[in-house]
Amino acid sequence: MKRTTGQLAVVIAALVAGSATAQDMSKIVNTPHNMANLDVWGVVIPENQVCLPCHTPHNARAVEDGASQILWNHALTEQTFEMYTTAAGHQGGQPEGTSKLCLSCHDGATAIDDFGGNEDTFDNVMIPADRLSNMGTDLRDDHPIGIEYPPPDLTGYNDKSTFTGVKVVTINGVDRVECASCHTAHDNSYGKFLRQTMEGSALCVECHDK
Ligand code: HEC
Ligand code: HEC
Ligand code: HEC
Ligand code: HEC
Repeated sequence: MKRTTGQLAVVIAALVAGSATAQDMSKIVNTPHNMANLDVWGVVIPENQVCLPCHTPHNARAVEDGASQILWNHALTEQTFEMYTTAAGHQGGQPEGTSKLCLSCHDGATAIDDFGGNEDTFDNVMIPADRLSNMGTDLRDDHPIGIEYPPPDLTGYNDKSTFTGVKVVTINGVDRVECASCHTAHDNSYGKFLRQTMEGSALCVECHDK
């Protein structure tokens, strides 16, 4: 049978759609947060447990800020971070809440396999310095976090009641922009674990009235 290019395109589209279903990106097993997918970096997860690097059912770590009692299992970053200062002079304090949890791998200094009872045996694998996912400790080139939402003295920010994807993170009673405002930890449907599509910068304009 002789196929035209058009027919071939349809076949390829069907194959791509098929594999998208098999690789449901709303499931963490199919994302870069399944550390078992990272065997190339030498990280060995006991019994291929997807949740274990971050959560444990028992003997979880105390996370002091009280904002992140989610049965946390991973070592916490001990780094000091340089924080972004906005044009209005706002600056977040040292990372807290779930932002600190994210940076407990993405600082490039805390071993990603330092979790649970692994401390004695872990391989000391950091996210390599040449990866974009290694944010380092200088956050001055990253969207501000630890910042109040909406900024009390500024206009141009939408009310949080209009959000459909992003969220504020409430720490000590204050609504803030944190990593988890824009990202999930588990769902990669939009890519880069984002809470909203970047198509038309939809994620950005949920907050910024621009
Ligand atoms: C890479 C680290 C990581 C992995 C792996 C991970 N989680 Fe999470 N999980 C988090 C973080 C961070 C939060 C807090 C997210 C937030 O506040 O938005 C969270 C929150 C949660 C919550 C609290 C409510 C919610 O849904 O946000 C549950 C329940 C949960 N995770 C279950 C799981 C299960 C079950 C697995 C394995 C199938 C898993 N997680 C794997 C990091 C992880
Ligand atoms: C236990 C370690 C760990 C924790 C905790 C963790 N991550 Fe990750 N994350 C990783 C690793 C490892 C990768 C893969 C890095 C790579 O391939 O360069 C990754 C990848 C990512 C990516 C890139 C995804 C892509 O499709 O390329 C994003 C975005 C991300 N993480 C955000 C977060 C956020 C936000 C949090 C907190 C809510 C978080 N991570 C917590 C280890 C972690
Ligand atoms: C205001 C929204 C916002 C906040 C807050 C935010 N991010 Fe992101 N992040 C994004 C967007 C959008 C992208 C995708 C950029 C792209 O694809 O070019 C991204 C990309 C990433 C990536 C992937 C880098 C890459 O290209 O592989 C990582 C890892 C990441 N973010 C982690 C974090 C962590 C950790 C925090 C908190 C310290 C954080 N983000 C805070 C919006 C945000
Ligand atoms: C969850 C709400 C939220 C989301 C989503 C968000 N921002 Fe922001 N953004 C803020 C807040 C709050 C500030 C800090 C404003 C202040 O306090 O001065 C800020 C600051 C900024 C600044 C720096 C302004 C300055 O004065 O230095 C830029 C640029 C920016 N955002 C762009 C973006 C882009 C691009 C996106 C999408 C990738 C995005 N933002 C997504 C809330 C958000």
